[in-house]
Amino acid sequence: MVFKKIFSVNSVFSVAKLEIKMLSKQAIEKIDYELTKYPADKRQAAVMSALRIVQTEHGWLSKDSISDVASYLRIPEIAALEVATFYNMYDLVPVGQYKISICTNISCMLRDSDSIVNHLQTKLGIGFNEVTADGRFCLKEGECMGACGGAPLMIVNNHTMHEFLTPESVDAILEDLSQKALK
Ligand code: FES
Repeated sequence: MVFKKIFSVNSVFSVAKLEIKMLSKQAIEKIDYELTKYPADKRQAAVMSALRIVQTEHGWLSKDSISDVASYLRIPEIAALEVATFYNMYDLVPVGQYKISICTNISCMLRDSDSIVNHLQTKLGIGFNEVTADGRFCLKEGECMGACGGAPLMIVNNHTMHEFLTPESVDAILEDLSQKALK
């Protein structure tokens, strides 16, 4: 459900009436909680959390939702856009129901991530940065996730990590996700 909120904002830039269209009531509550962690005049400190909250809800970050995050935090739109475009865990285009990011950096490469990539691409019929026709899966090439001891590995929707991958374990993971997608 989209929460429409109109309120006045006193910022160093202007006094304006803002209309927030893309943030749900639940998302605003979560952002408000993040804001309690910082001084009242440092609302920009919550920008990464706010973008993450909105992305988790929508599956990706549209320009309008980034704009609304900026408005709600009372920061310039470009400031939120800079953060959203800098970190690769933010998705600026739709990525399907399950975004699979596989690490291809050195430790994973030495543990044969190439064969896992080939297996995933063959199995899903897509390359990197593509989405399956049914909208369920997207494949991304990931950077080191700081868990090299579990190489080769991948992470689903930025949250669920799967380590020590083999073609067989990848098949089991895809099957499990496909079942969940049907529910
Ligand atoms: S190189 Fe893959 S997790 Fe570090």
